[in-house]
Amino acid sequence: MVHPLPADLDPQRLPKHIAVIMDGNGRWGQQRGLPRIMGHQKGVDTIRNILTYCQDWGIQALTVYAFSTENWRRPPTEVEFLMTLFEKVLRREIKIWAAKGIQIRFVGDLTSLPYSLQEEIQRSVIQTRHNSGIQFTVATNYGGRQELVQACRAIATKVAAGELKPSDIDETLINNHLYTHGIPDPDLLIRTSGEMRLSNFLLWQMAYSEIYVTPTLWPDFDKTELHQALLAFQQRERRFGKATV
Ligand code: IPE
Ligand code: IPE
Ligand code: MG
Repeated sequence: MVHPLPADLDPQRLPKHIAVIMDGNGRWGQQRGLPRIMGHQKGVDTIRNILTYCQDWGIQALTVYAFSTENWRRPPTEVEFLMTLFEKVLRREIKIWAAKGIQIRFVGDLTSLPYSLQEEIQRSVIQTRHNSGIQFTVATNYGGRQELVQACRAIATKVAAGELKPSDIDETLINNHLYTHGIPDPDLLIRTSGEMRLSNFLLWQMAYSEIYVTPTLWPDFDKTELHQALLAFQQRERRFGKATV
C-alpha cells in the first residue's frame, strides 16, 4: 500500500533530499528504565517507517546518520551492539528494500568496520545499485571532517602525479571526491531529541540546508512528526544569499 501525501503538503515543494541526525535513542531507553541499547533497537523500527513514508511521499533521497567517527568513544559494549545491530538489520531488511526499488548506499570510512559488516554492506549495495526508487544513504563511521581529509588526500595525490593542476580544484571537483558524490545536497536536516548542533554531519553538503529540530526522541519520531517537519520546511524561504525584494 502506498501512503498518499498529506493534503496540506505541496508535492512541488518537497525537499529532494532529507538528512536525519537520529538522536535520542539512549535517552529513550533510560527514560523507561531500560538499557540504552533498547533505544537503538527501537530506533530501527523508526528507520523502517520513515523510509517507507519518504518513499511513498515522493522524497528522492534520505540520508541517516547511524554512527559517527566520534561514536567509537562510547563504551565498547554499546559500540559492539551497534555494529551487530547494523549487520542484522541489513541481512533482514535488504530483500524487502530491494523489492521496493530502494537504492542503498553507505558513506563514511567503511574500512574500519567489522569485516562481516563490510561484507553485508557490499552485498546490499550491489543488490540494489540498479534500483531507481528512493536513494537511501546510511552514514556509518562518518565524520564530515574525515570526509574532507580523505578528499584532500585524493586530490593532492592526483596533483602530485601531474593528473591535476592546483587551478583545476573547484567546488565541483571537491564534491566529486566526497563520499556523497552523485547525491544532491540535503535540502532539509532533521535532528531529533532537541540538540541544536551538527555533530560533524555532512559539513560541506549542508551549507544551505534548512534545519529542523524536534524535541521528540528518535524512537518516537513517526509519520506525524515527519509531516510536521515537511510543513515547517514548506514555510521556509530559502534565499541562498539573495535579497528578497
Ligand atoms: C543516537 O542516539 C544513535 C547513535 C548515536 C548511534 P544516542 O545513542 O546518541 O542517544 P542519546 O543522545 O544518548 O540519548
Ligand atoms: C550524532 O549523535 C551521531 C549520530 C546520530 C549517529 P551523537 O549523540 O553522537 O552526537 P553528540 O555527541 O550529542 O553531539
Ligand atoms: Mg546522542
